[in-house]
Amino acid sequence: MPGAELRDSVESALGRVSRENLSALPPRIADPIRYALEGGGKRMRGMLVLAAYRAAGGTGDASGLAAAVEIIHAYSLLHDDLPCMDDDDIRRGRPTAHRVFGVRPATIAGAVMIPLAARVAHDSVRGLVLPSETCCTIVKVLMQAAGAGGMIGGQLLDLEGEGAALSRDELDVIHRAKTGALIAASLQIGGIAADATGDRLSALVGYGTRVGLAFQITDDVLDVTSSTDKLGKITGRDAALRKSTYPALLGIDGAKKRADDLVGTACEDLRLQRMLTTELEQLAEFIVSRTH
Ligand code: IPE
Ligand code: IPE
Ligand code: MG
Ligand code: MG
Ligand code: MG
Repeated sequence: MPGAELRDSVESALGRVSRENLSALPPRIADPIRYALEGGGKRMRGMLVLAAYRAAGGTGDASGLAAAVEIIHAYSLLHDDLPCMDDDDIRRGRPTAHRVFGVRPATIAGAVMIPLAARVAHDSVRGLVLPSETCCTIVKVLMQAAGAGGMIGGQLLDLEGEGAALSRDELDVIHRAKTGALIAASLQIGGIAADATGDRLSALVGYGTRVGLAFQITDDVLDVTSSTDKLGKITGRDAALRKSTYPALLGIDGAKKRADDLVGTACEDLRLQRMLTTELEQLAEFIVSRTH
């Protein structure tokens, strides 16, 4: 995986959250949150925050912002696995949080992670000594991406779509919302923190929107082509839950090609703005070539 240094930085920031923000909470809430934050996630969204920040010329330590996005992502996985959603038993190679702690404590821990992410984002922006207006904008972007018009709204559409024969356009809408919105927000947040505006900020968001959709297409492909051991989650779940997916609509090769095309355009558009750093190029390539 590219960007080992970026990944280490995200891990350290999550470690700080665990020490500084969770130690005051009762263990029955803190323990499932820690569990959901640990466990070998790729930290792709956090790395994208940092890569966007640097591509836009940022020189401070934006790792707290990366951690905030990863907290939202980890909560989304915790809730995604609940029996009332995808009902999964394995995540990141371990039993899912509700299997370890019970459904009620895990559900509540997931909900607590949303204000936790807002707090961590807010504290991080203050640490970067950015104007309070920028702080508000960053927290708003993160919460909007997580909300009804983004991640959680997409999750509802995904669940409602089980068993239905969705068109490619309908599937695009779901995938862009449930997965693309938070990934696009990762780029946007990194850019805003580095004071990017106008065409430069739009270029980062455009890249995020495309690689975000490519990310979920690849996730759908891996659910068919990979193994539970490699992925750390049980494969074949999409078919079992009768989800509409890109491999089902376009075939494996067609789905891979769509993801490759999206990543190609994403990188080309950033290159035109002279913002395609090696980090952003390698992360985009990894998103479609990954095996886990
Ligand atoms: C899995 O995300 C869920 C999707 C949105 C496709 P990741 O594949 O980024 O999961 P981790 O964080 O690496 O475990
Ligand atoms: C999850 O999509 C999207 C989220 C917002 C969590 P999936 O349901 O396909 O993710 P996995 O395959 O369980 O990781
Ligand atoms: Mg799901
Ligand atoms: Mg799932
Ligand atoms: Mg999946």
